[in-house]
Amino acid sequence: MDKLRITGGRRLSGSLRVSGAKNAALPILAGTLLTDEPVRLANLPHLHDVTTMLELLGHLGAEVLVDECMAVEIRAREMQTLRAPYDLVRTMRASFVVLGPLLARFGRAEVSLPGGCAIGARPVDQHLKGFEALGARIDMADGYVIAEAADGLRGADFRFDLVTVGGTENLMMGAALARGTTVLRNAACEPEIVDLGNFLNAMGARVRGHGTPEIVIDGVERLHGCAWRVMPDRVEAGTYLIAAAATGGRIRLTDVHPGDLTAVLDKLAESGAEIATGPDWIELDMHGRRPRAVDIDTAPYPGFPTDMQAQYLALNAIADGTSHVTETIFENRFMHVQELNRLGANIELASVSHAVVHGVPRLKAAPVMATDLRASFSLVVAGLVADGTTVIDRIYHIDRGYETIEEKLQTLGADVERISG
Ligand code: UD1
Repeated sequence: MDKLRITGGRRLSGSLRVSGAKNAALPILAGTLLTDEPVRLANLPHLHDVTTMLELLGHLGAEVLVDECMAVEIRAREMQTLRAPYDLVRTMRASFVVLGPLLARFGRAEVSLPGGCAIGARPVDQHLKGFEALGARIDMADGYVIAEAADGLRGADFRFDLVTVGGTENLMMGAALARGTTVLRNAACEPEIVDLGNFLNAMGARVRGHGTPEIVIDGVERLHGCAWRVMPDRVEAGTYLIAAAATGGRIRLTDVHPGDLTAVLDKLAESGAEIATGPDWIELDMHGRRPRAVDIDTAPYPGFPTDMQAQYLALNAIADGTSHVTETIFENRFMHVQELNRLGANIELASVSHAVVHGVPRLKAAPVMATDLRASFSLVVAGLVADGTTVIDRIYHIDRGYETIEEKLQTLGADVERISG
């Protein structure tokens, strides 16, 4: 298993192009199942999760072509099977979003109950309730969800009991080919939902209100092929900004939408960073200063993203002062606290959802272990500022979400190396 060796103490400095967004790419890839025509996708990040989704599409019967510019063309002409197997869905919860497209286009889908990051129970009850509202019959057998709508899905008015990103995406895709109009209430407003809605519209769907809590979808009979460029990854962008701030550094990110990162940029400014933005770039300069402690409460978009909580916790760990970090989206998303404390941080878990961070001036290198995707990057942030050499084990978690992490960090001047084996 690969490890990452980081010797701390260097200020990050330089310019970085942000990759395409994993969390937009995955539902968009699933959305290619909605048409029998070719769909061409650009700016897909080279990540394990994307490969897993491509493998799943191939398993279902789609033809997947990768060209010399790394653009991917997918054509889901005929399916070999409508069953998404445990082996593929287990490793990545996001693959559950193939259910909507398969059900809408073919009237049936069998999808294994998902696995994914070990951050809480993460049920799919809202997805299933939504498809029932759209007229599907849902059964469970041997760990699989069996969904059927022999005469197709029909539009309905559905309200989510809680805000779910994957649930909203799954239902949007199902409703795109349903008979009549669907209204999704209490829908997620994340920028990735907007990207998916715009992508569906480029295929001929009639989606409006995406990016607000009320999405209206007029079902159409068929969708056609299109070319689409996946939006920039706001989580990757925010992560590198936080890492740069922790080291007192200065970076410029390009190919990014600053408007998608408002909550994070506001917090970084509170922490003491000087920030400038343009239409597709962000500059952060910490002027070598120690960050100030700031409180964080995660919330659905436009609130502070849960996917950047762990990284910010690491920043707060070396900040001047005490801060409170509250996680409201997932239970059990503080697994990194124990590892950060091994590096000399002073973080108390006041409850399963609330950490009190007493900032310390220095961290000290130690061997640590990655636990889940985003939590792992908090260890990278800590390693970048710790005295000595930190070795992070199990970095396959990081590789699920961060493209060529060691190369990107090296570009910014970090002393980082991947140890294979
Ligand atoms: C997506 C993101 C993930 C991010 C999360 C929250 C992708 C591929 N992943 O995950 O990076 O951390 O949004 O911003 O886009 N829930 C239910 N029932 C359901 C569905 C969800 O109770 O049917 C709960 C979950 O357990 C969780 C909360 O709702 O506590 C939010 O989950 P959801 O928004 O669905 O997250 P994902 O789509 O899995």
